[in-house]
Amino acid sequence: MSRIFSGVQPTGNLHLGNYLGAIRNFVRLQDDYECIYCAVDMHAITVWQDPQQLKNNVREVAAAYLASGVDPEKSIIFAQSNVAAHAELAWIFNCVARLGWLNRMTQFKEKAGKNRENASLGLYAYPSLMAADILVYKATHVPVGEDQKQHLELTRDIAQKFNNDYGTETFPLVEPLIFGEATRVMSLRDGTKKMSKSDPSDYSRIALTDGPDEIAKKLKKARTDAEPLPEKMEDLSERPEAANLVGIYAALADCTKAEVLAEHAGSQFSSFKPILTELAVEKFGPIGAEMKRLMADPGHVDAVLKDGAERAQALAEPVIREVKETVGFLVS
Ligand code: TYM
Repeated sequence: MSRIFSGVQPTGNLHLGNYLGAIRNFVRLQDDYECIYCAVDMHAITVWQDPQQLKNNVREVAAAYLASGVDPEKSIIFAQSNVAAHAELAWIFNCVARLGWLNRMTQFKEKAGKNRENASLGLYAYPSLMAADILVYKATHVPVGEDQKQHLELTRDIAQKFNNDYGTETFPLVEPLIFGEATRVMSLRDGTKKMSKSDPSDYSRIALTDGPDEIAKKLKKARTDAEPLPEKMEDLSERPEAANLVGIYAALADCTKAEVLAEHAGSQFSSFKPILTELAVEKFGPIGAEMKRLMADPGHVDAVLKDGAERAQALAEPVIREVKETVGFLVS
């Protein structure tokens, strides 16, 4: 049986990359699979979060799921910290994962930066908690953007080592689901950098809650080059900013990049950007407006999260019990 799990960090500034790389795919999978979608607040605190802001940001992630079309009747939406089994399994995985494996994680290196000695222990162990998120439900498939691939490889290594060490078949080997035309959306200010929640420049990303004016302003200012759009894909390979805007257009229009070029080859950015803006406003506007509506009265969001946590808890409970038995803990 296939089961889907994925998560988004409630660290504010949810953006176009989160939507096109992940959340939109969450919606597309829910008709065919049992899906569990989480706001990973325990991951968020691996770097400092203001407590009141964190609560709002958890609600914002849930609101983004709902506004994008995740159906809380079909899929489970909940906050990670509300199901204690994630933390329990993460500890067990901390004893399975090897230091050498974690030392290779590029995301840790990026986030810790030069001041590694001052990074939290949680930031280092982050991938082990992520493996626990997925495997505490024995999920088989994980829809994510490209940047999470290495973490999912580590999840497979942890599952395999656990199964080998204990001579069991407890955990499945998860498959990443990385699909669509925008699996790695780049910054609007620098086509070689990923669009990210933590970029200090607001102009680097389109936020899910941006209205039409903000979207128009940001796309207008987006960095490009002086050449018109080419006919062939290979002619985009040395033009990261142009390739990024074409990818965003393709993802929003639900077509391929080649189709975008077939239609717009020869266009200057001065004419392509307004068309892209119109499309982004059409696709994005309703999501942002619905998120704002949900956030203004979070009662509904809170009820969805509470119901989701109960359902997630019921699924996690037998798995964490089985794991504790396997490891040799006394289970009452
Ligand atoms: P996070 O919160 O950084 O991002 C949430 C999702 O958005 C995708 N994403 C992007 N996709 C395309 N282009 C971009 N520029 C871009 N930026 C982000 C991410 O790949 C992700 O799918 N570690 C995860 C959260 C997590 C998780 C999990 C995910 C915790 N436990 C278990 C899956 C399964 C993260 O930091 O996502």
